[in-house]
Formats: sequence, structure tokens, C-alpha cells
Amino acid sequence: MPQPPVFDVLGVGFGPSNLALAIAVTEHNAAARPEDVVTAHFLERQPRFGWHRGMLIEDATMQVSFLKDLVTLRNPSSSFSFLNYLHGRGRLVDFVNHKNLFPLRVEFHDYFEWAAGKVDDLVSYDHDVVSVEPVADGGPVTHFDVTSRTPSGEVEVRRARNLVVATGLRARLPEGVVQSERIWHNRDFLRRVEQLEDPRRLVVVGAGQSGAEVTAFLHERFRDAEVCAVFARYGYSPADDSSFANRIFDPAAVDDFYTAPEDVKRRLMDYHANTNYAVVDHDLIADLYRRVYREKVVGAQRLRLLNLSQVAGLEEHPGGVRVTVESLSDGRRATLDADVVVYATGYREADPTGLLGTLAGRCRRDEHDRLRVLRDYRLETDDGIRGGIYLQGGTEHTHGISSSLLSNTSVRVGEILQSVLDRREPAVPVQPAYAVSALHTA
Ligand code: FDA
Repeated sequence: MPQPPVFDVLGVGFGPSNLALAIAVTEHNAAARPEDVVTAHFLERQPRFGWHRGMLIEDATMQVSFLKDLVTLRNPSSSFSFLNYLHGRGRLVDFVNHKNLFPLRVEFHDYFEWAAGKVDDLVSYDHDVVSVEPVADGGPVTHFDVTSRTPSGEVEVRRARNLVVATGLRARLPEGVVQSERIWHNRDFLRRVEQLEDPRRLVVVGAGQSGAEVTAFLHERFRDAEVCAVFARYGYSPADDSSFANRIFDPAAVDDFYTAPEDVKRRLMDYHANTNYAVVDHDLIADLYRRVYREKVVGAQRLRLLNLSQVAGLEEHPGGVRVTVESLSDGRRATLDADVVVYATGYREADPTGLLGTLAGRCRRDEHDRLRVLRDYRLETDDGIRGGIYLQGGTEHTHGISSSLLSNTSVRVGEILQSVLDRREPAVPVQPAYAVSALHTA
């Protein structure tokens, strides 16, 4: 049996988190002595780099400053910065004149693709990781065998001392709702909307950033259609992006959160959930309100906000979907015949243990059955596991709100890389006697 290649680091998933890690490894290796070089490889199921392609709505902007790119907070002089990308694209001066910290989402996607292209040799696309097996030679687990499958069914195994699982978020739908030709999650929005012809009525469920973006997009794209936004809130709530609140995304906030007792962690999440969850950019709220008001003035209302409401039933038939909307105030119900219903109901963290097979049972859990995660983002395992399993994402309960976001990515990957280096087994010193006898043998 041929032995699989052995890496210091094997990354599962190649979104921005592991892309940032690939860059950190590349920069480390460029300056490292040969014995300090870190070998790394990344496996990504998509055929090429892609970051939430279904929501690359043309005028949507980032919710994070361009300075929180893949590298700058870790290494401000990195050649992988957004500014260097802009310079390469010939837009640096134009961007400066724009006086804007928040680039277009399509632009940041282009930046990610540009950066991914520069570390292409470290990635295998079209590789869906399907399992991880522990490798123990009669002693502790020192390595992991990672199996991936390509779309053509080829199976490959790679071996690594450390895994970094960064598989992102999963689309969340209310219980009982199943995606279909006419019932979508906004994750696939742009791909699906291209196939939509001449709709009469569209329903959007949810009042977060994605729900508001989808509502605005549909209203603009389909000028003859009615767009109904259904949500439980009274109105769209603004994202708190004020300076002090923004500190919750600081690298230092991770330390504060990590060491805080459980009830303080919960309070911090409650205080600052409105920096990220179920909230909408101020400009977009103003834009939607302007549209509703304008339609009131001209007397042709086709953007309808069904607030304080929920979807109580969905009935799909060949011509569309019959949506029952229930008022949370008085329980009254109304039906809407729609061509399509778009659920913008958010995402949940992916459970990394699904991939870990027998290793899952060897990961320690807290009293709420959540994975215990060390400060260096490594899963706490039993003492028989020496290899490291690191998480990027899925650590909100231990490391706080920035866990699934871009804000802290560049710093986090620096910490993970440092941990991998610190945990390296010291090289066995070559004794002069051994070296001499080895020479004799040769
Ligand atoms: P991400 O989900 O990006 O990548 C995970 C990768 O793993 C994917 O490419 C997936 O294909 C791959 N994968 C999964 N399972 C696999 C397997 N078994 N084998 C191989 N590959 C596998 N945050 C922020 O800070 N500012 C912002 O402006 C935004 N904007 C934003 C817009 C939209 C529409 C969404 C949905 C989310 C955001 N976010 C955000 C939050 C978002 O989570 C964040 O921007 C990054 O996507 C996190 O990067 P990751 O690499 O961790 O996950």
C-alpha cells in the first residue's frame, strides 16, 4: 500500500478562513529556516474558489472594513492585502477617492479570488472531505487520515498531524420547510432568480440583512411583480456599527470572552447580537422605506411589508405556492398566491463532529454538550490524541461573536499557525556518535 503524503496542516474547506491560513503559512515559509517550514494543504468541495456566490448581489456591500481583510491586522505589510489587490487592479486611487471603508461584496469576492489564485498550489478543489480517521501506531493518535471524494468518484487519502476544519455555515430553514423549485433559501438566490420568468408575486421570509437585500433586489428586478416581506419583527432593525460596540469584534475581545464565566458570555452575546444578527444596514432600511412611501404617494403599492406575522402554511402546486400568513397580533390569517417563496432565515454553525467519525466521541464536551475548545481554537480531546484538530467557525460559545465572521480571521489564523509551531515535537538532536556511525554505514 502506498503511504499517503503527510502534512503538518490539512485544511478542510477553503473559504476565507482557510484561505487566510494558507496565506499565513506561505508568509511564514518564505522567511523560515528549512526545518521550520510548515507543509500544508487544503481541500475544498467547490470546483473553484467561491464565497457565498448566491448572494453576490451587485450593489451589496461588505459589513466589515476592508482593513479587516485576509492579512492586515496580522501583518500590515503583507502583499496579500486588499490595498495591494486594488493597486494590482489599477483602482487604488479611485478607491481612496470613494472615501468608503466598506467595499462592494462582488469586489471583496474578486479580492478573495485574487488571493486564492496566489496560493493555488496549496489547494485541491472538487475535493469533498467525507471522513477523518485517527492514525495510531499502537500508541497515541499522532496523525489523521483525511479522505476526500471528487465529483467523478475518485477517492484520495491524505495524512496530517493537524487538521483545521473551516467548513462554514449551513442554511437554516424553519422546521418542516423543504427546499424545492419554488421554495428557496437565499443561499442559492442569484442562481435561482436567473431562471425566474415574469413572476406576479414573490414572498420573502425574514428581516435580517439577507431578507432586506433579497426584498430590494426582487422589487427592483421584477417591476410588474408584488413583493411581500413577511417577518415577526415590527420593522427592520438597524445593525449597530457604532465604534464602541464594534470593539466586540476586536482580537482582544476574544480573550475577554474566552475567560468570562458562562453567564457573562451569554450577556455579552445578548448585548451585542444586534451588531450582526437579524439586523440591516441603515442605508438599506432607508432605501426600503423610501420605496414603500413612494408607492403610497403614487397609489400603486407593490412592496408590502407584512410585519408582526409568520408563515403558518405552505402549499406547493404546479403553478405556484399558496402561502398562509398569520398575524402574531390577532391570529388572523391571509393567503398569498406566490410564484416563489425565499427564506432568508439565516444560517447555523456546521457541526464538525459529523466528519470526525470515531474521533467525535473522543472530543470533550461541556455541561451543555457543546464541544470544548482551547484558546488556540483546538478541540479539547482525550489524552490519547496528540494531533491537533482546530476549528475556524463553530466556536461562538467559547470565542465569541467574531467566530464565524471575517473581522478576526487574519489574527485567528496567526494564532493557529503559532500553536501548530509551538506544539511541534522537538526534532531529535543528532548525536555526533550516531552521525559518525551513520556516515560509516553509508
Ligand atoms: P465559508 O462558508 O465561507 O467557507 C467554508 C468552505 O468550506 C466552503 O467553501 C465550503 O464549500 C467548504 N466545505 C464545507 N464542507 C466541506 C467538506 N466536507 N469538504 C470540503 N470542503 C467543504 N462576515 C463578515 O465578517 N463580513 C461580511 O460582510 C459578511 N458578509 C456575509 C454575506 C453573506 C451573504 C453571508 C452568508 C455571510 C457573510 N459573512 C460576513 C459571514 C461569513 O460566515 C464569513 O464571511 C465567511 O464566509 C467565513 O468564512 P469560512 O471560510 O469560515 O466559511
